[in-house]
Amino acid sequence: MTYLRHTILLLALAAIASGCGSSGGSFGGSGGSAGMGGRAGSGGGGSGAAIASPSLPWPLIEFPALPDIAVDVPEERLELGRLLFYDPVLSTDKQTACATCHSELWGMGDGIELGVGHGAGPETGPGRDGPNISRRNSQALYNLVFRETLLWDGRAASLEEQATMPLLAEEELDIDPELAAERVSEIPEYVDMFAAAFPEDPRVTVDNMAAAIAAFQRTIVSDNALYDAYIKGAPNTLDEEMVEGMFRFAKMGCDGCHTPPLFESETFADRNVPSNEGVVDLGLAEFTEQPEDNGKFRTPSLRNSFVTEPYFHNGSAKQLKDAVEHELEQSGLPFTDEDVFLIEGFIHRALRDESRAAKRPDTVPSGLPVPIDNGF
Ligand code: HEC
Ligand code: HEC
Repeated sequence: MTYLRHTILLLALAAIASGCGSSGGSFGGSGGSAGMGGRAGSGGGGSGAAIASPSLPWPLIEFPALPDIAVDVPEERLELGRLLFYDPVLSTDKQTACATCHSELWGMGDGIELGVGHGAGPETGPGRDGPNISRRNSQALYNLVFRETLLWDGRAASLEEQATMPLLAEEELDIDPELAAERVSEIPEYVDMFAAAFPEDPRVTVDNMAAAIAAFQRTIVSDNALYDAYIKGAPNTLDEEMVEGMFRFAKMGCDGCHTPPLFESETFADRNVPSNEGVVDLGLAEFTEQPEDNGKFRTPSLRNSFVTEPYFHNGSAKQLKDAVEHELEQSGLPFTDEDVFLIEGFIHRALRDESRAAKRPDTVPSGLPVPIDNGF
């Protein structure tokens, strides 16, 4: 609530300071064929004055407050979750960890088309290849704390429920969760950490492991991008190009699914993403068993998209601009190269904040090497 009041105050101050109230002010000149150089320099006067007040193509919605489940979580539980997340002790080959496919260096994804699990060695990032390959692109883990459904097809409803899925998945960590818990319980440092993290039930159990990993993942929040500063009343944080990109993003209907301020939603849609050769993936229908859900996937967040290439559920678009172009084609509306450029620029520059990515530990309690990034 303090946060809300603070924001309203800032907005009011910004409005007074700039004498604003305009909406969509910078949208006027769109549709023309002027090159970007001309546009950026326009706005006239040579004063260099940037955009006045948060002019938005949609109603201002503040970044949500953390839900209760993520408030006042004991520090020890978060630290335990972080170490388990990076510890390859949770995999059959003792070389693969959650962080193998969800690394802070790759926007909490892995920088490759499809997740490559155990049996591929400790090196991670582009170039990783191996015998156990997932059908899907590994997802970035930002802002999961606000989510109602998880995974590309929405088949998990909570992070606690999801946490054991990678352990069980044959192409990921491929280990019986009970065996993983047994291994962890043989490491004295972990035993002490579980006791501190879960005073009411200090045992090393699968549930406590899942709870710690889930709690840790809820701290991976991205709420400090330029867009966030902009809506909090610092209008100069977005330059004209970014604002123009934002208005075109709205004009093309992108916000209907990639809804601000999280730029994602629980909308499942078939975006006609071309299948990878030889792969059948029905998406939501695999979970609901309804034919009308064939090919539908959950709308991913566009926050930090710039660093989570490649794109789509199967990693089939290499660069952000390719994905934007594909999505513009899906809109059914006419568009120009300039639309692609500006919308990509808005996502790339205005929606990026990795300041609360996971922090890699130098060592983990098992003593096993933490998966190496950029090992290639
Ligand atoms: C082999 C690579 C790999 C490993 C190892 C791995 N993941 Fe993932 N992760 C993926 C892929 C691929 C997806 C998307 C799967 C899907 O939608 O079916 C995913 C999805 C997720 C999601 C859902 C995110 C969202 O936006 O809905 C979470 C949460 C997650 N992983 C956490 C973990 C945790 C915790 C671990 C370790 C216990 C882990 N992952 C290990 C590849 C991996
Ligand atoms: C009807 C809902 C919907 C609309 C409208 C929509 N998207 Fe999407 N978007 C999705 C879904 C669903 C996916 C995932 C599709 C897949 O992987 O099969 C996606 C994926 C993306 C991705 C790739 C993200 C990633 O992490 O892989 C980008 C970029 C993107 N959309 C941008 C846009 C832009 C730009 C627009 C406006 C032209 C737009 N989207 C309109 C639902 C939508």
